[in-house]
Amino acid sequence: MAIERTLSIIKPDGVEKGVIGQVVARFEQAGLKPVAMRMAHLSRAEAEGFYAVHKARPFFSDLVKFMTSGPVVLMVLEGESAVAKNREIMGATDPAKAAAGTIRKDFASNIEKNTVHGSDSLENAKVEVGYFFREIELHPYEWKKA
Ligand code: RTP
Ligand code: MG
Repeated sequence: MAIERTLSIIKPDGVEKGVIGQVVARFEQAGLKPVAMRMAHLSRAEAEGFYAVHKARPFFSDLVKFMTSGPVVLMVLEGESAVAKNREIMGATDPAKAAAGTIRKDFASNIEKNTVHGSDSLENAKVEVGYFFREIELHPYEWKKA
C-alpha cells in the first residue's frame, strides 16, 4: 500500500443540499486527509476541459451544464490507497446501485446529480489534481488526533 493523492469534488447538488461538512467528515473518518480545498464556480470551458474524456458521451452537455450550475468544492485527499478508498466511500455512479453507507447512496438524487466526483485511477488523479491545484497549494500535515 502507498500514500496517494486523489481529486475530490463536491458537486453543485452536494453544496446545495448542505452536506459539505458531512462529506468531508466521511473522508476524514476513513483516513483521507484533505490537503487542499477551495470553492469554485466552474466556467463552461473549465468543466468541458475537466470532463474531456466524456466528450463523445450522450450525457456530456448535460453534465457540463450541471457542473457549472452552482458552486463546487474542489479538494485533494491524501492517504493510503486514496484513489480506490475515495471511490469506495463515494459509491456507484448511480445512487440506486450504490452500496449502503456510501455518500451517493445517502445524498445523491440520481445518476447525474450524484454529489461527488472522484478520480478513477492514480494516473488520472495526477492529471486532475494538476488541473485545479498548483504544487504550492497542497498542504500536507500530520494528524495528531486525540
Ligand atoms: P465522476 O467521474 O463524476 O466521479 O463519476 P463516475 O466516475 O462515477 O462516473 P463517470 O462514468 O465518469 O461519469 C461522469 C459523470 O457524468 C454523469 N453521468 N450522467 N445521464 C447519465 O447517464 C450519466 N452518466 C454519467 C454523472 O454525474 C457522473 O458522475
Ligand atoms: Mg469518472
